[in-house]
Amino acid sequence: MKINFTETVLRDANQSLIATRMPFSDFEGILKTMDKAGYYSLECWGGAIFDSCLRFLNEDPWERLRKIKKACPNTKLQMLLRGQNILGYKHYPDDVVRLFVKKSVENGIDIIRIFDALNDIRNIEVAVDETLKNGAHASGTICFTISPIHNLESNVKLAKDMETLGVNSICVKDMAGIMGPQDAYDLVKALKENVKVPIVVHTHSTTGLGILALQKAVEAGADVIDTAISSFSGGTSQPPTETLAYALRQEAYEVDLDDKVLKQINDYFKPILAKSLESGLLNPLVMGTETDALVYQIPGGMLSNLVSQLTAQNKLDKLDEVLAETPKVRKDLGYPPLVTPMSQMVGVQAAGNVLSGQRYKNISSEIKSYVRGEYGKPPGDIDSELKKLILNGEEPITGRYADLLKPGLPAARAYLGKRAKSDEDVLSYIAFPPQAEAFFDKRDEKEKHTYAYTIEKLDD
Ligand code: CO
Repeated sequence: MKINFTETVLRDANQSLIATRMPFSDFEGILKTMDKAGYYSLECWGGAIFDSCLRFLNEDPWERLRKIKKACPNTKLQMLLRGQNILGYKHYPDDVVRLFVKKSVENGIDIIRIFDALNDIRNIEVAVDETLKNGAHASGTICFTISPIHNLESNVKLAKDMETLGVNSICVKDMAGIMGPQDAYDLVKALKENVKVPIVVHTHSTTGLGILALQKAVEAGADVIDTAISSFSGGTSQPPTETLAYALRQEAYEVDLDDKVLKQINDYFKPILAKSLESGLLNPLVMGTETDALVYQIPGGMLSNLVSQLTAQNKLDKLDEVLAETPKVRKDLGYPPLVTPMSQMVGVQAAGNVLSGQRYKNISSEIKSYVRGEYGKPPGDIDSELKKLILNGEEPITGRYADLLKPGLPAARAYLGKRAKSDEDVLSYIAFPPQAEAFFDKRDEKEKHTYAYTIEKLDD
């Protein structure tokens, strides 16, 4: 059986290890080689790439995508999309979501992995529909989480519902690296028995379970796995590409990767990793194995956020109490998966509950919006006392939140006027307004200078 590999060095590995700060110029020189490696796809866009390009790298994210496409015409390009939230944490109107998907495909994306932080299928419907309309591959995503209400049955139901929407594959996304090998085996097996589309597995090496989980997922029938070229693998990144290829071939799986090309790619990225370590961009701690996430059942990133939040308030001695409060808050909220932004919201509320000495004395506006139904349907029931406290007798929103939103494109177009040179600019602005405006200003300034002087030929 053939196992396909999605290489994540340009997106998730870059995001997980060096906060997405790899400029295009760093990897430009290896793209043509990467195109020959035999990858199923190259994850290279979406997630935090867009924000980082505009905010830190002074790059047009759309132009980055077009350049990657040009250098890699033979490999499918893949992006991560947060459903109705596109690349952020709030719901956008449908016209924005549709144009974003359409333009992503036009600029070079072949596969869009679409997820919702609450696994609320209504929040991925429009993005899936538009992906399919544009002839691209829609990968419906299950955010893997552990709770008393999440089980094989609920995950299989979600997968079946997504198959009904018409997705071309189903991805199991374990953003925290807490999926054990048996979890992976059981889930993939159940999915293979219940849906027809290929199964993709995405995990992180954070807790050290990653390699084991991928191996067992493959044994259960997974079709595609996400890995990162070894120099950029491990720790909070993905398991290593070359290692998985080696191990799976030993088990007689067919792997279409060219080892010589992988070696060239790895050699290319080694000095980039060394440079990142030297500059301090890469913290050696994120390269290691962090098993606390398994003890506390919360993602490593959330744990380090809690520690820094409490340290800043000189209250680190309260950490144990906050860690005990965290699962209680999560339960009160109906067990949302601990993925951004829910992980931060739950963590901040748990810390507040402990530090103020009274549970829910202060409630963040995000938690209030969540309880009002503005993020989608909570996976389980919200605690009735908490509901009463926040809703004050009002009814929560039970419909799809985006149905309540006015179209977003006309206002953005009117505001930007001529400063937007394309639909892509309008979308950059909608996704990250201040960053996009600052980027446009710099670009306009640069163009002014570029055009102020031109070299002309002498007359013959
Ligand atoms: Co990830």
